[in-house]
Amino acid sequence: MSNPSLLILPGDGIGPEVMAEVRKVIDWYGANRDLTFDVSEDLVGGAAYDAHGTPLHDDTMAKAQEVDAVLLGAVGGPKYDVLDFSVKPERGLLRLRKEMDLFSNLRPAQCFDALADFSSLKKDVVAGLDIMIVRELTSGIYFGEPRGIFEEGNERVGINTQRYTESEIARVARSAFELARKRGNKVCSMEKANVMESGILWRDVVTEIHQAEYADVELSHMYADAGAMQLCRWPKQFDVIVTDNLFGDLLSDAAAMLTGSLGMLPSASLGAPMANGRPKALYEPVHGSAPDIAGQGKANPIACVLSFAMALRYSFDQGAEADRLEAAVEKVLADGARTADLLGEEGASAISTSQMGDAIVAALTASL
Ligand code: IPM
Ligand code: MG
Repeated sequence: MSNPSLLILPGDGIGPEVMAEVRKVIDWYGANRDLTFDVSEDLVGGAAYDAHGTPLHDDTMAKAQEVDAVLLGAVGGPKYDVLDFSVKPERGLLRLRKEMDLFSNLRPAQCFDALADFSSLKKDVVAGLDIMIVRELTSGIYFGEPRGIFEEGNERVGINTQRYTESEIARVARSAFELARKRGNKVCSMEKANVMESGILWRDVVTEIHQAEYADVELSHMYADAGAMQLCRWPKQFDVIVTDNLFGDLLSDAAAMLTGSLGMLPSASLGAPMANGRPKALYEPVHGSAPDIAGQGKANPIACVLSFAMALRYSFDQGAEADRLEAAVEKVLADGARTADLLGEEGASAISTSQMGDAIVAALTASL
């Protein structure tokens, strides 16, 4: 049997730096666990624009459709702010999500014990936190038509459209219920059914799917604004949260900060199963390209490393190896290793991006 294939798209800003650490981890699995991946690398975002005049070359898109999983770093940067909207770095990422039809975006927010003091919330609010946000990723206001900036009378009007079909809601709801069954068996669905028709439909469809197929799972509903408030007040009330594309974008950043740093949060974007049974998949850290610290060796590679752990679990059926990698990260943090983002103001004792990667690899070796 041939090796599983991975397409690595480091992207912009800190993307290449954090991805270099993931490469060390991938190499470790090849050398130590008989888990060798066929790795290829390509451009996305501003880096692709610089080379090809487009944030995602058609050849790269085609490769992404063929591999078993895509690992992406980050896209964007101030250098590209002046570009036309259609070729902005983010368009490359959105095209990947859309054309691969990665409708279910899993964003776990987990508070590592060693970091419970670092959250801006009180320790007892976040210690032991383990929630999963399931964000719809291929529809809603990110892609709805009509969209654009138009002339209307003597002024311009900016339009975006929130649009959801029943089947789009149903499939992401199913993926949330399936996940909940493997975790705490609870789903909270968030929308704004009090002001949006798409929210009313969302609530109806989630309720129907629940009654017909997942009545064993506990389901609740919340307006997304109240959900944001509850996430800050007592996040441990949640197990799985399922929500739309835009609310999921906002709520997952908020949830990320509960854990102490955006530098800690991985994500998996999953689509329908391919011919080989594996889901279409793209893994990326939730953090952005952080242009302010790019190239300085300050970035935290953990979110990207944990994204690879999610790839082991969701694409390659290697749950035990994913556990091993997550435990290695936990061990390194417990031993006191901190990149600058995990130290706040007094970042003097911070280790570099590559020292963090080396520490994780050392902890992997120690786990054998
Ligand atoms: C995210 C990001 C993206 C989004 C951007 C980079 C297009 O914020 O993945 O959360 O808005 O989806
Ligand atoms: Mg975001």
